[in-house]
Amino acid sequence: MIKVDKISKIYGQGPASFKALDKVSFKLEKGANLAILGKSGSGKSTLMHALAGLDRPTSGSIAINGKDLWSRQQKEIDAYRNQMAGFVFQDFYLQNEETVLENIMVPLEIRGVADRKPKAYAALERLEIKDKARNLTRHLSGGEKQRVCVARAIIGQPEILFADEPTGNLDSKTSEKVEEILFKLNKELGTTLVVVTHNEDLARRFANSIILKDGRIIAHEGKELAA
Ligand SMILES: Nc1ncnc2c1ncn2[C@@H]1O[C@H](COP(=O)(O)OP(=O)(O)OP(=O)(O)O)[C@@H](O)[C@H]1O
Ligand SMILES: [Mg+2]
Repeated sequence: MIKVDKISKIYGQGPASFKALDKVSFKLEKGANLAILGKSGSGKSTLMHALAGLDRPTSGSIAINGKDLWSRQQKEIDAYRNQMAGFVFQDFYLQNEETVLENIMVPLEIRGVADRKPKAYAALERLEIKDKARNLTRHLSGGEKQRVCVARAIIGQPEILFADEPTGNLDSKTSEKVEEILFKLNKELGTTLVVVTHNEDLARRFANSIILKDGRIIAHEGKELAA
């Protein structure tokens, strides 16, 4: 269960400050899937970063399975991010000078998982990008990078998977494949799925959704969601 209670995020200070989130509250049941919608600049990525333990909200609280996230020691926040959460970034955050294989094995290295290579190849195979395993990431196309990013996020079977525009750079066929993988994880492994998307076809597939505008929730829908 994810419980968000009146989180706000203010970037910068003084006259140059900007309120990107304004008292956002909602509850999402464990194992549910949620689409976060809203125009560019509405606060979607900011919200996802707060949920995933990547960027601290200015005020308010987020509890994961009943345990407050941002009041924990940094070490515990890191552990949550590394062990419970998987993240597909809007702008990838891949190590461009490393190979695809090296990039996607990072979460397993952090956790000290054995047999990393077979797991890595299996994830790459799912995303149909196995033939690029030994390539330097900087030589990949945008869509290929996106799929590597998804592979890295799912490799450790996180309890919660966050994806920020996971199909933004993909053609419709590849994006369908990525969607299938995300929903399969949600359905079969009970992975809680939280996805930012502009794609209306993709948004319709989610059981729950919220729409952000100027950092506030202006609409919400879904049985596993309370706002
Ligand atoms: N580090 C920052 N410093 C100052 N302002 C920021 C910072 N990060 C984001 N913002 C501002 O906060 C607002 C929300 O940004 P955010 O990235 O959450 O939007 P978004 O809904 O994800 O947009 P997009 O659909 O374009 O990705 C934007 O106006 C953005 O310019
Ligand atoms: Mg964004």
